[in-house]
Amino acid sequence: MSQPIVGIIMGSQSDLEVMKAASAILDEFGVAHEVQIVSAHRTPEWMMQYATSAADRGIKVIIAGAGGAAHLPGMTASLTSLPVIGVPVRSSNSIDGWDSILSILQMPNGVPVATVALNAAQNAGILAAQILATHDSALFKKVEAFKNGLRDKVISANEKLK
Ligand code: RP5
Repeated sequence: MSQPIVGIIMGSQSDLEVMKAASAILDEFGVAHEVQIVSAHRTPEWMMQYATSAADRGIKVIIAGAGGAAHLPGMTASLTSLPVIGVPVRSSNSIDGWDSILSILQMPNGVPVATVALNAAQNAGILAAQILATHDSALFKKVEAFKNGLRDKVISANEKLK
């Protein structure tokens, strides 16, 4: 694939089961991306290096997933001006998922993280594609086709109910 324009990062290998859905939908849209483990707590220097170099390396959007005390998305957003989409993961150290959600969602003014639903990595991938599609008409058409597919599924489900 060509130069990655989306960076998918996650706090642990154990997040991959959830986070792979972001990669899968970006593959479907033909968006070049990279996938890396970057832990805010276990590899803070690597997180800093990743976040501060991402824009210079051509990354346009970062998707960051983490669970429990989920500091990776917010800390990454504090270190870069790229848009950061946060995926709260219901991980082994998460009480019930709310800890992951609130750790990512409740950012201070000035440092937003666009937070998707619990474990909703596919939505994070779609949102990243939509952001990129504002400046890419071919990608915009692919997103439109995807959304039309969702609509058609509902229409055909209703047809079957008749
Ligand atoms: C978080 O702790 C990670 O993002 C992961 O969701 C969670 C558990 O990590 P492991 O103990 O499975 O490596 O930092």
